[in-house]
Amino acid sequence: MPGTCVIGLQWGDEAKGKLVDILTEEHDVVVRYQGGANAGHTVVSGGQTWKLSLIPSGILRDGVTCVVTGGVVLDPASVIREMDGLESRGVKIGRKLLLSDRAHVVFPWHVTEDRLLDGSLSGGEAIGTTGRGIGPCYRDKVGRSLAIRLGDLYRPDFREKLAHIVEVKNRLFAGWGGAAAGIQPLDAAAIHADYALHAARLEPHVADTTAFLLDEVEVGKRLLFEGAQGSLLDIDHGTFPFVTSSNSSGVGVSSGSGVPGRWVNRVIGVVKAYSTRVGGGPLPTEQINPIGEHLRERGREYGTVTMRPRRCGWFDAVAARYTARLSGVDHLAVMLLDVLSGLDEVKICSAYEIDGKRVTHFPSHVDDLKNARPVYETLPGWDEDLTEVRGYDDLPRQARAYLDRIGELLGRPVAIVSVGPDRAQTIFRHGASFGGGAATPPASTRPPHPSAAKV
Ligand code: GDP
Ligand code: IMO
Ligand code: MG
Repeated sequence: MPGTCVIGLQWGDEAKGKLVDILTEEHDVVVRYQGGANAGHTVVSGGQTWKLSLIPSGILRDGVTCVVTGGVVLDPASVIREMDGLESRGVKIGRKLLLSDRAHVVFPWHVTEDRLLDGSLSGGEAIGTTGRGIGPCYRDKVGRSLAIRLGDLYRPDFREKLAHIVEVKNRLFAGWGGAAAGIQPLDAAAIHADYALHAARLEPHVADTTAFLLDEVEVGKRLLFEGAQGSLLDIDHGTFPFVTSSNSSGVGVSSGSGVPGRWVNRVIGVVKAYSTRVGGGPLPTEQINPIGEHLRERGREYGTVTMRPRRCGWFDAVAARYTARLSGVDHLAVMLLDVLSGLDEVKICSAYEIDGKRVTHFPSHVDDLKNARPVYETLPGWDEDLTEVRGYDDLPRQARAYLDRIGELLGRPVAIVSVGPDRAQTIFRHGASFGGGAATPPASTRPPHPSAAKV
């Protein structure tokens, strides 16, 4: 059974990229299956830092194929920039990268719409998108008539299709105020010229990735699925409307990649040892005080894509237990534990109080979440610097107690702990191996059934 997937359980930036890079060693294919250039995944190795966005974080290793599937919205200029950046630093891409001909293409009008609809025209509280045209591109995908997929760029009617869409979009933009509102009309010929160049550059990488992946699983190749964003930003199951436009929880793996869920035998849920969020929407455990500043400064919590300061707070076990269940998580990876060093006490939110009632389920309506008052458990903190620790048992007693409590509240074992950005700063508990070929864990080591967990 060949599949592992890595899913963020919070609001993104859980250090999925670091983990995917490490786990790539034990896999043959790394797959990005949703989202787009809104993702910013960081890998640090031997003093070098790599920022990946659309290209899977497996690209830094040899001997793997990196696949961007049809569930992704693909900005050709972004991929090309990323490819050039990697190649200029000695990373050979060659035929290692495959891009789905089904991936929907991001065009300049999507970026314009993103800016306008999350700003002055939205009328409500801004989502605070990354401004990469993600939502508008997915909207056109679902709407169908104004959508262009990567494979369409190579068809004889591409120019005509593009001209039609540009005409419709220009009419739409004129209705929104046009040049007076700072919206420049789109020039179909210029856009065609740019995208024809992009298409020529990307052509060797374009493939039917669904067929490729199905062939790979059937011959026993080990697949690693790299989630982007986090489960709480899932379009259907997250904190709507303050979410992204794809299924960023575990439920998106099959629809985004075309690989049936039966081929995924291990789900690793990634959390930070605390909470962060970029953009709008509720963050019940947010700390706008010296604790929040400690987390932001020690964790260098500034967005990888937009450089915005991330909002920071205590670990929210109500939210993460919900997403661990939703994403079918087997094992937890707790990242950035080192950031908590130096705090007298550490807190975990284990329930909410909403309208005077104590609840342990995650509310489905964002207004209830806005009203949620976190109920905390307080644990002793630790002063020790963790960045050199390499064995679980060498962690300070208080740090182990903290991890144990997270595992208990989420009903899953903590199998991986990260104590710094570098590949080497990672602790695999009990010598855990995460090769895709590894068998399903024996019953005795399986996490308890989620309903057994008391929160
Ligand atoms: P992703 O989007 O989930 O891949 O996460 P990001 O790359 O956006 O953000 C995670 C940040 O934390 C990056 O700057 C990483 O280099 C950094 N990082 C990863 N693991 C650790 C860790 O254990 N400790 C610290 N201090 N930083 C880490
Ligand atoms: P990675 O993969 C953190 C957030 C944005 C905004 C909301 C919608 O690096 O974890 P969008 O541009 O997707 O329409 O923005 O989602 N967001 C992320 N936050 N990490 C990400 O990706 C994110 N991708 C989108 O800040 O609140
Ligand atoms: Mg990120």
